[in-house]
Amino acid sequence: MTARTKIVAGNWKMNKTVAEAISLVEQLKKDLAAFSGGDVILCPPFTALPSVAKLLGSFPKIHLGAQNLHPAPQGAFTGEISAAMLRDVGCQFVIVGHSERRRNFGETDAFLREKLLAAVAAGLRPIFCVGEELPDRESGRWPVHLRSQLQGALHGVPVDVLSEIVLAYEPVWAIGTGRNATPEQAQEAHALLRKEMEALHGASIASRMRIQYGGSVTPQNAHELLIQPDVDGLLVGGASLNAESFTSIVLAVG
Ligand code: PGA
Repeated sequence: MTARTKIVAGNWKMNKTVAEAISLVEQLKKDLAAFSGGDVILCPPFTALPSVAKLLGSFPKIHLGAQNLHPAPQGAFTGEISAAMLRDVGCQFVIVGHSERRRNFGETDAFLREKLLAAVAAGLRPIFCVGEELPDRESGRWPVHLRSQLQGALHGVPVDVLSEIVLAYEPVWAIGTGRNATPEQAQEAHALLRKEMEALHGASIASRMRIQYGGSVTPQNAHELLIQPDVDGLLVGGASLNAESFTSIVLAVG
């Protein structure tokens, strides 16, 4: 089996002023000083990126990510941020296709595909999110939904782009609800995503692709999720806003 480096990312969403971001990162630098078990990414809001980048400049254990980008290189897109701008302030990662963007801002698979291509072309590594809503989970149609999201955005995407992508399985019903997927549900979905990647792009890419689980991850459930064979990391929302809880989640990597 291919050894995949674990990857834990904190998605701060629309939280933290610059001063709050600085104090959280200063604490995390102390708490994670001895950690070497995997990749750690912080995704602050756009406004805090330069300050966090500066703090992380001297701390290569934590990488910087953004929460969104626009696929165009520049131009008349009021309120948007390009991949090059994110690189310019020190980002290495960017979240693409979070369910809050799909649902609240109408982002389609085709648009997300453009974002993935633009991100990788600029040297960013996308964390690409997929996940089903509750009715699809309850009716058992969730595999159909996941396949369609993967195919919609990734069909025909070149291998050099795919190899930069981290996938995140985020069941919408688990996000911010306190109801995480069970380790068995997560493993089943991750295995399905890997199988689908294999069907679309071949065994080599599929076995190397890292797949994070996201949705109500806490210090209490992190370990049992992380020990599943196809769970290669975690994408953490609420519990990443606090140094103590995020640190214990990261340390659950081992
Ligand atoms: P949550 O969010 O951990 O607060 O459920 C996860 C996410 O949206 O990435």
